[in-house]
Amino acid sequence: MTAGSGVWITLEGGDGSGKTTQANLLADWLTAGGQTVVSTREPGGSEVGQLIRDIVLHHRGDIAPRAEALLYAADRAHHVATVVRPALQRGEVVLQDRYLDSSVAYQGAGRVLDGTEIRDLSLWAAEGALPDLTLLLDLDPEAARDRLDSDDKPFDRLEAEKTDFHARVRDAYLELAAAEPERFLVLDAAASAESIAAQIRARVETLLAQ
Ligand code: TYD
Repeated sequence: MTAGSGVWITLEGGDGSGKTTQANLLADWLTAGGQTVVSTREPGGSEVGQLIRDIVLHHRGDIAPRAEALLYAADRAHHVATVVRPALQRGEVVLQDRYLDSSVAYQGAGRVLDGTEIRDLSLWAAEGALPDLTLLLDLDPEAARDRLDSDDKPFDRLEAEKTDFHARVRDAYLELAAAEPERFLVLDAAASAESIAAQIRARVETLLAQ
C-alpha cells in the first residue's frame, strides 16, 4: 500500500472458514500491543456500503453478473477512499474482512466473468490499492459442510451445485495466493483457532517490524 504509514491486512476465505474469529483475536492482540486498529469489512464497511451490501446480499431475485461485480466494485471504491486510505494515512492498522480477492474468487467462480477483468475492475475502483498482507483461511468446502451437517444424506442437485461453486471459489483463492506469495499467508483453517492465531501473529510481528 502506498497511501501512508499504516498497515493494511485483509482476511479471505470461504463462508464459515473462521475469518471473524481470527480477525477478533488479531485485533485484540494488536490493541494490547498499543496499535490503533480499524476493523472493517466488504461489502458494507461504509454508510454507502451498507446500502450496497443490502442490495447484493438481500435482493430477492437475480442480479446480472456484471451489475453484481460493479456493485462490489462501487462498495470497494467508496470504502477505500473514505475508510481505508484515511486510516492508513493516520498510521493505523486496518483489519479488513474481505477485499478484491473475494470478487475474483466469487464473481469469477460463477464462470460468467473472467478473473482478470474482475481484478482490473477492482483495481481501477480502488486506485490500485493492495493490502500489505492477505490472510487466506483455506478450508475444503466439503469439510466445512461436514462441520455444519453431519448427516450422510446424498446432496440434492442444488446442494451439489453449491459444493461445486465453493470448490471453485477455493481453487481461485489458492491460485491467487500462489501468484502473489509475498502478499498472502495461507492458513489451514481446519487447525485449532489458537494455532492459526499464533501463525498470524508471527507474520504480523514481522510486518510491523519492517
Ligand atoms: P458476509 O455475510 O460478510 O459473509 P462472510 O461471513 O462469509 O464473510 O457476506 C459476504 C458475502 O459476499 C460472501 O458470501 C462473499 C460475497 N462477496 C462477493 O461475492 N464478492 C465480493 O467482492 C465480496 C467482498 C464479497
